[in-house]
Amino acid sequence: SILIVDFGSQVTQLIARRVREAGVYSEIAPFNAAEAAFERMKPKGIILSGSPASVPAEGSPRAPQCLFDSGLPILGICYGQQVMSHQLGGTVQPGDSGEFGRAFIEVSDDCLLFDGLWDKGSRHQVWMSHGDKVTAFAPGFRVVATTEGAPFAMIADDDRKYYGTQFHPEVVHTPDGAKLIANFVHKVCGLAGDWTMAEFRATKVAEIREQVGSGRVICGLSGGVDSSVAAILIHEAIGDQLTCVFVDHGLLRLNEREQVEKLFRDHYKIPLVVVDAEARFMAGLAGVTDPEKKRKFIGGEFIAVFEEEAKKLGGADFLAQGTLYPDVIESVSFTGGPSVTIKSHHNVGGLPERMNMKLVEPLRELFKDEVRLLGKELGLNDLFVGRHPFPGPGLAIRIPGEVTKERCDILRKADAVYLDEIRNAGLYDAIWQAFAVLLPVRTVGVMGDGRTYDSVCALRAVTSTDGMTADIYPFDAAFLSRCATRIINEVKGINRVVYDYTSKPPGTIEWE
Ligand code: XMP
Repeated sequence: SILIVDFGSQVTQLIARRVREAGVYSEIAPFNAAEAAFERMKPKGIILSGSPASVPAEGSPRAPQCLFDSGLPILGICYGQQVMSHQLGGTVQPGDSGEFGRAFIEVSDDCLLFDGLWDKGSRHQVWMSHGDKVTAFAPGFRVVATTEGAPFAMIADDDRKYYGTQFHPEVVHTPDGAKLIANFVHKVCGLAGDWTMAEFRATKVAEIREQVGSGRVICGLSGGVDSSVAAILIHEAIGDQLTCVFVDHGLLRLNEREQVEKLFRDHYKIPLVVVDAEARFMAGLAGVTDPEKKRKFIGGEFIAVFEEEAKKLGGADFLAQGTLYPDVIESVSFTGGPSVTIKSHHNVGGLPERMNMKLVEPLRELFKDEVRLLGKELGLNDLFVGRHPFPGPGLAIRIPGEVTKERCDILRKADAVYLDEIRNAGLYDAIWQAFAVLLPVRTVGVMGDGRTYDSVCALRAVTSTDGMTADIYPFDAAFLSRCATRIINEVKGINRVVYDYTSKPPGTIEWE
């Protein structure tokens, strides 16, 4: 495996991605926990990340000395290159201009990282983001590539297998970056690149058996990919020691509950308890119009229902969760200070403490798309693993104003028509998330010879890679008018359809 030491760069996770894409397992550890991670993982190579910090600044982070003493290959990226140079006897100085964005690198010497990729004298696009630079490299190093702003854009010490890049090979704007990283892990570290999902599945099944023993596990299903994959994997490991609980809060999409029952009960034969809690949630949501109050109520009620079911089952020793790697990585912050809460997200956080249960989280090391691959490995079909994300509070946050069963029913139908059109047009996979919103506004229309006075439905579709930022999906006019016509014709209660043209920021993806 490869240990990635995080100094707080925005793109450290991408390094882990690139290493895994090269078929090698990797983990990220914050610089101040890197020594412990090193001892636990016994890696075959080390990558030092970038950072918003500055090496010459007092108190800026350093790599643990044990990494240099280990004799293992090291690749330093940006700050990683600078900190390595500094710790090995070179000099780093604050740059007076810095380089940000696209730059062109010229290969000035041979290097194992360029093997089969770059020839001496060739030029390549790379992505830079640095103010400081190495001005004198440490003994043993030689320069292998340069840019106008960084005479030491890439340095190498072949004997010690130390390499440094001033640019960021992990980002897509360095087109050959993934291959440079692959060369590091395969050719320099000598790793075979045979880490596969099948292997991960087998290892995890063994781990789960070991952890759970003869204990009982309860798993909350949301209908989403993460909890589903976690449940199927755990069931493979411990069979009917697992019970899944699916809470139908009445805020689900059309036929969602039936789909979950079919998949888990009929197909995978996993013990499943479905709780019909619609009446209870609707009662609690009556008269609630404030978005945060809705979210808080739904989150709290969800935990209450789940707890009651666990008690009915006679308790369990473990709670299974579909926690993913991005939720686990301890982020390194240099700015400090609390960030503003835009929305209180609903998840089952807080449950394990309240219920005094231990956690089983078999997806803790995986990224979202790796979970999809594992889902396929476990026999889930493409339609299921490729599903758009769906928020915990469900349709409630897509019905501004008061949520009632009647309004949920209207929205469910409109949403289903919209998604049907998107699938028919072959656009589903090009979109991060698409959904309908039912507005608390009524407008006048005319249908047949009669006057209508009904609700407005807004359609939203965005592209995104992580949900943090998003852009609107540019449907053509014919597609949108087809959706509008079908929704108005097929869904009683809606007589006008509009399209949401707001990106994130300034909008959020959901309306509440
Ligand atoms: P926003 O609306 O904040 O949403 O731009 C970003 C992404 O998060 C999803 N989302 C949620 N997911 N529980 C969830 O599990 C929630 O409470 C929640 N609120 C928003 C949203 O659908 C989008 O993918």
